[in-house]
Amino acid sequence: MHDITAKPANPSAATMSKLERDKNHRRFPTTAWMRRQAPKNVPFFAYEYCDTGAGNDGGIADNWSAFDKVKVVPRYGIMPSLPPVDCELFGTKYSAPIGMAPMGGPSLVWPGADLLMARAAQRARIPYTLSVAGGATIEDAAAAAPDVFWLQLYRFWHDDHKIGFDLVRRAQAVNCKVLTLTLDVPVRTTRSRETYAGLAGEFKPNARMIYEMLIRPRWLMALLRNGYPRFATISHYANSTNTNEVIKYARQRMGGAFSWEEVKRYRDAWKGPMTVKGIMHPEDAEKAVALGIDGIWVSNHGGRQIEALPASVDCLPGIVAAVGGKATVLLDSGVRSGSDVMRALALGADAAFAGKSFLWAVAALGDEGPDQLVSLYIDELRASLGQIGAHTPKDARNAKILHPGAIKF
Ligand SMILES: Cc1cc2nc3c(=O)[nH]c(=O)nc-3n(C[C@H](O)[C@H](O)[C@H](O)COP(=O)(O)O)c2cc1C
Repeated sequence: MHDITAKPANPSAATMSKLERDKNHRRFPTTAWMRRQAPKNVPFFAYEYCDTGAGNDGGIADNWSAFDKVKVVPRYGIMPSLPPVDCELFGTKYSAPIGMAPMGGPSLVWPGADLLMARAAQRARIPYTLSVAGGATIEDAAAAAPDVFWLQLYRFWHDDHKIGFDLVRRAQAVNCKVLTLTLDVPVRTTRSRETYAGLAGEFKPNARMIYEMLIRPRWLMALLRNGYPRFATISHYANSTNTNEVIKYARQRMGGAFSWEEVKRYRDAWKGPMTVKGIMHPEDAEKAVALGIDGIWVSNHGGRQIEALPASVDCLPGIVAAVGGKATVLLDSGVRSGSDVMRALALGADAAFAGKSFLWAVAALGDEGPDQLVSLYIDELRASLGQIGAHTPKDARNAKILHPGAIKF
């Protein structure tokens, strides 16, 4: 497995030995194996929450099949050993162009998962993005991942964005590397599996959900160690740690998608690199760049909004053609392997991010999950770049690519 050479954030923090990594690798050779194990370790509602998409999961299936259809022609005889994969994004050096996408509920899937992911990202020196709706505070997550901490915001419009701009202030105070505004959630849509599992409204565990928790002892132990999942950053404003009170408070003050005028106000307030997430059309990318946005995060929210959206990887070449060179282009939605990361790099992305697969990893392996998956992704990326004869991540762009699904804008 990959030897993580970056200096650990906290040298005394327990990290896995090579022996343990290899053992885990034999049990979970790819993310598919983690996904298979995940529902056996966590309550039914937790797995359904992390694995579901909008409607009947059609968007997720499309994201995966779109990646599978991208083929990259190999070149041989030019690379005796596997290439390095370190990179620079927005002026910061990382050990690989692979990041953790922001997610609202990792700690529901596995109590404490937000900080487990943050620490794993810091150890490996890859970008970690905390969601404003995540289970750790901005301050705690930044302390866990000081060199790789990014923050994602939803639209807190109430009182002329008073909370939104206070979040910007807090991010600035902890030296957040990149601020991201998510544009692609004008409304929260129905995810059928999440609804069926009892998570559509308030979090009120009924008898079935309590039973689901009781039959998952490792998850229960994590709950005892880390406490009840909560919206840590938002609860600061709600002045409550009661999950349902925080949800109610947030729903009254948060919602809708940022307008371009609002994006500009945040751009002016934030002194540092900034990206907009959920961009799928080259004209939107151009608009954002014209407003001074540094990075375009191509994403369909992992298929969680509506099923009718195209796969983000099929929108990627059009966006790279429009703004590549002027802005950093990031991609997520459907990444399940280092080969997928290589495909995104070959199509012109500067880095690829993953969401769900990190939740499968933590559900399948518990506390060791995020470290194991980072290591797997880096190994797979190096192997994939070696296979196509790319000497660096950027060199992947020189490969010959078959991409039948690419959208011609
Ligand atoms: C459980 C879950 C919660 C999410 N919460 C957020 C969020 O709070 N903010 C956000 O911008 N994106 C959120 N996303 C979307 C991810 O940031 C990312 O776009 C998506 O997961 C990438 O696709 P993948 O899951 O196929 O890797 C969430 C995704 C999942 C799976």
